Amino acid sequence: LNVAFHTAWTNGEVWLAALRAAAPEIEFRHWPDVGDPATVDVALVWNPPRELFGGMSRLKLVQVLGAGVDALMRSEVLPAGVPIARLVDPVMSQRMAEYALYGALRFHRQFDRYEAQRQATVWQRHDHLDPPDVSVGVLGAGEIGMTAARLLQSNGYDVACWARSVRDPGPISVFAGREQLPAFLARSRVLVCLLPLTAETRGILGRETFAALPRGAFVINAARGEHVDVPALLEALDAGQLDGAMLDVFAPEPLAAESPLWRHPKVLVTPHVAGISHLATSVEYVVDQLRRFGSGEAVRNIVERERGY
Ligand code: NAP
Ligand code: GLV
Repeated sequence: LNVAFHTAWTNGEVWLAALRAAAPEIEFRHWPDVGDPATVDVALVWNPPRELFGGMSRLKLVQVLGAGVDALMRSEVLPAGVPIARLVDPVMSQRMAEYALYGALRFHRQFDRYEAQRQATVWQRHDHLDPPDVSVGVLGAGEIGMTAARLLQSNGYDVACWARSVRDPGPISVFAGREQLPAFLARSRVLVCLLPLTAETRGILGRETFAALPRGAFVINAARGEHVDVPALLEALDAGQLDGAMLDVFAPEPLAAESPLWRHPKVLVTPHVAGISHLATSVEYVVDQLRRFGSGEAVRNIVERERGY
């Protein structure tokens, strides 16, 4: 099995060494040194450049090294008909869930307020709610959304999710579709975005959504920068409709030094670190995927191109 490997990350060699050690029977070639591209069976990639797929006439699978496939779906050179599999890693999901939990704690225990008070050397206590009185709404009920919802619920928060499709009732209520979005938003004091970026979800954190939240809500975005309408966010923060925001993802990245988000007193910016791919578990998953592929077994977590995730 010939695998062309490419990542925009700086530690590509480390990943490659780990992959080779875990699966000596597979030939991993570090793109662009792939030899004859017509002999490549699988592309293992994160944010590949346009030219990567050129000449890969035998390509039968694209395995992505991350959970979100939006960058690839937009690629003009995406080989037609070749299945795309995404990464599903419980460690990454847990890291994402921790990010959401930190945001909820930051909001409801008012740690952002105490940070501001510390800078002004103000000693003043404030009342705060307890988790059962804090309703958290998670946009997305997939691998990551559900992991976050479960962690938040186990910490006592009143949690609901929002998904595209209706599902059977379970321990966490799931609102579905555009029709149920207003009711879901109306109950979300803390809103956590863990949606894939698609034509339907782009800009979802915008004016209409913010207006539908309870006044003084807190917004966490760990999905994609293009989910947020930044001017609408700043407007809602400055008008007091939103109490604060915690943002991990931006369009484009890195976030420009002149962006007002860096300096806004109600915004916490993190540099796309909410759920970094975890080397050991990702390598284990990828090798399992490649071995499945090699032996003709079904590869897991294939993206549905029509719906975009
Ligand atoms: P996933 O398992 O595919 O789950 C996606 C969820 O979103 C599903 O519940 C889906 O609904 C819902 N959804 C999609 N389109 C929708 C729509 N139009 N309306 C309502 N719900 C919709 O994805 P995942 O593994 O949880 O990953 C989610 C995203 O997290 C990734 O796409 C990526 O952008 C982001 N991410 C960020 C980081 C980071 O470090 N910041 C790390 C990893 C991932 P159904 O259940 O009905 O299909
Ligand atoms: C990171 O953002 C991912 O989608 O894995």
